[in-house]
Amino acid sequence: MEIYTDYLVIGSGIAGLTFALQAARSGTVTIVTKKEKMEGSTNYAQGGIASVFDPNDRFDFHIKDTLESGDGLCHEDIVRMVVQEGPPRIDELISLGVNFSHLSDDSDTLDLGREGGHSKRRIVHVKDLTGREVERILLERAEENKNISIYEHHMAIDLITKSKMIKRGINTSESKETCWGAYVLDAVNGSVITFLAHVTVLSTGGAGKVYRYTSNPDIATGDGVAIGYRAGAKVANMEFVQFHPTILYHPLAKNFLISEAVRGEGGVLVDAKGNRFMEEYHPLKDLAFRDIVARSIDMELKKSGDECVYLDITHKPAEFIKDRFPNIYETCLGLQIDMTKQPVPVVPAAHYMCGGLLTDQYGVTNLENLYAIGEVACTGLHGANRLASNSLLEALVFARRAAVKSSEDLNEKRNLPFPGAPQWDPGSATDSEEIVVVTHNWDEIRSFMWNYVGIVRTNKRLERARRRIENIQEEIREYYWNFLVTLDLLELRNIALVAELIISSASLRKESRGLHHNLDYPSKDDKNWLRDTVLCNDKG
Ligand code: FAD
Ligand code: SIN
Repeated sequence: MEIYTDYLVIGSGIAGLTFALQAARSGTVTIVTKKEKMEGSTNYAQGGIASVFDPNDRFDFHIKDTLESGDGLCHEDIVRMVVQEGPPRIDELISLGVNFSHLSDDSDTLDLGREGGHSKRRIVHVKDLTGREVERILLERAEENKNISIYEHHMAIDLITKSKMIKRGINTSESKETCWGAYVLDAVNGSVITFLAHVTVLSTGGAGKVYRYTSNPDIATGDGVAIGYRAGAKVANMEFVQFHPTILYHPLAKNFLISEAVRGEGGVLVDAKGNRFMEEYHPLKDLAFRDIVARSIDMELKKSGDECVYLDITHKPAEFIKDRFPNIYETCLGLQIDMTKQPVPVVPAAHYMCGGLLTDQYGVTNLENLYAIGEVACTGLHGANRLASNSLLEALVFARRAAVKSSEDLNEKRNLPFPGAPQWDPGSATDSEEIVVVTHNWDEIRSFMWNYVGIVRTNKRLERARRRIENIQEEIREYYWNFLVTLDLLELRNIALVAELIISSASLRKESRGLHHNLDYPSKDDKNWLRDTVLCNDKG
């Protein structure tokens, strides 16, 4: 089966939906999303969106904070552009219907939160449920739009590219590697659909599930990076995996974040004896940059042998805590933790992928017709460590820029016929019965990535990880070609490739900077490493 569309958007988080709403002004938009449509990191975002609204704040302050957090690797032109385009993008969300928190019910002034590394209050939020509200409104607007169709439970497998056609004996006139859409698995009935598009957008989010412990939802298996890389798109800075310092530590809590905004409102980190420790590590103490706080907790836990540290905000009035953090308060209470009366047990966990598919200032990749936006992209904004709440901002800014740019090119592209793309070839596959192989490999990758390629790395650990991933990749390749594709197998193939890219990038960078900390090279080396780590699979 073939489906034709002007724009194919892969992913229905903040990036994909923002793009879709803008692009639908100029053509038909088809969104494919691999689970339920609201299921992505966006839906779980708590803290909010960083942007300059306070009269005492300035673009220059936000730019400086972002650059400092990025530890030398941010692209300053991109930082400036994103920061300056923030307020109009937030105003657009408000005009679409997002009801951000105000100072009081009858105030016109936005309530601005604070998080680590920000020198001013500048986080626009909807209490501690920012993502859920943004996702809900964007989905509502997309579903009302007659130019937008959404396919739930449809998972992109691979891109349809010029190289793929040549391999199947189909000639095309393009000189550059070009993308015309994607093969997509209908996860409900198991068929593979060919989606042909003039513009294809990867907005598939992050890859937290590559690690054993993560704040991310299950969809975060790095699919976009893997899909793009396999097709020949450049990938950058994959060694910079951000670990959030405060994920709830409780056997019944899966991936639950305790927002940095709690520290922004006065919460402090303490050890099991109730002693504060962040002043020993950084002058900004509990509101230091995220890489520093996560590493400090890691060191404290290694020193004490304890399983977690605690986040204490009990000194604030109970009514304030319940009103400002209703979601966190209720979730903790459901687990018999009353955060108004007792400190909350927390540990660091994988949270955000600073690296991704390399793009320019419009979200354009090195493949013709292919864009990457949101967490899947590496735009130059975050450098070696993302500043808190700059991610939703980046997604908004780049989604709009990509939509405007691609719609400018669409008229010309529309006049060109689609090439005759080959149907998906299932090969000699039979139904997969050995799901245990997938589960086993999946668990193994997540464990050794946590143990060997986590917050603190060494050459030896990276080498061990490399050997393990090579073996698993071999097994997956064999399995992949012998069996029909399933969502689980596709995700395994993607996390294995993303793990490999993280290990390769971390092994290349022979210094410590931002989120990449290697005990064998404990210092920063500006002379040799003030540059992005770029990887490219030229096999296409
Ligand atoms: P997502 O919102 O993750 O959406 C990805 C979409 O792609 C999903 O619809 C998914 O199903 C789909 N998809 C993936 N693979 C495929 C495939 N192969 N085929 C089809 N569909 C696919 N950032 C901030 O700036 N502020 C915050 O307060 C904040 N809080 C956070 C809290 C949590 C718990 C988490 C996990 C992250 C937080 N972040 C925050 C980060 C931020 O939420 C994400 O970076 C951002 O939402 C990513 O948006 P996205 O649109 O790129 O991806
Ligand atoms: C949080 O609320 O702590 C998450 C913010 C972010 O990841 O930007």
